[in-house]
Amino acid sequence: LERVRFLWQSIKNFKEMGTVIRSSPAMCKKMVQYIDPSLDFVIVELGAGDGVITKYILNKMSKDAKLFVFEINPELCEVIANIKDDRLFIINDSAQYMESLLINYDIDRADTIISAIPFLVLPDELTKDILQTCKKMLRKGGTFVQMHYIKSISKMYKNIFGNVQTQYVALNIPPGYVFKCIKQD
Ligand SMILES: C[S@@+](CC[C@H](N)C(=O)[O-])C[C@H]1O[C@@H](n2cnc3c(N)ncnc32)[C@H](O)[C@@H]1O
Repeated sequence: LERVRFLWQSIKNFKEMGTVIRSSPAMCKKMVQYIDPSLDFVIVELGAGDGVITKYILNKMSKDAKLFVFEINPELCEVIANIKDDRLFIINDSAQYMESLLINYDIDRADTIISAIPFLVLPDELTKDILQTCKKMLRKGGTFVQMHYIKSISKMYKNIFGNVQTQYVALNIPPGYVFKCIKQD
């Protein structure tokens, strides 16, 4: 049922979703591979969809950590709300407002940001705005993780973060890439 709701929302809102198929288990595992439960206590997820990666993040993170999820689609937020976990905070708003919205929770730094926002279909200015906010919000040494279906976009992450590591994920429809950047300064 979740899969059907995701598909329907994707068709209705393609310009925000950028895909019609949610991430595979292989992609979800790659997206959470860099979480270190002994170091990462504030985790932010951007573009959570129906929460398919959210569940993997919750499984991997420490019991004392918190997960803040940003998702602009209210119907998908309702689906995510079916996940009952005290460590999960769902924010039905755009990632570009992350800084001011996290202040409401007394949070001013993130240890890890995991994003599936489809930057390829978003306006360039909005993309830059969100990525600069991510860089600002991460602690030094913190990790930014992003998925895409094309490899050449890695340059954009290198320009912003000064570094990028790319991994190919064959077992996804379509096959995709996971990009990892470290906040250096
Ligand atoms: C490709 S889907 C990914 C869903 C899920 N994480 C997955 O991997 O299957 C992208 C999601 O990003 C959301 N989104 C798009 N722009 C956003 C923004 N500015 N802030 C927060 N979420 C956004 C869309 O509504 C959509 O649910």
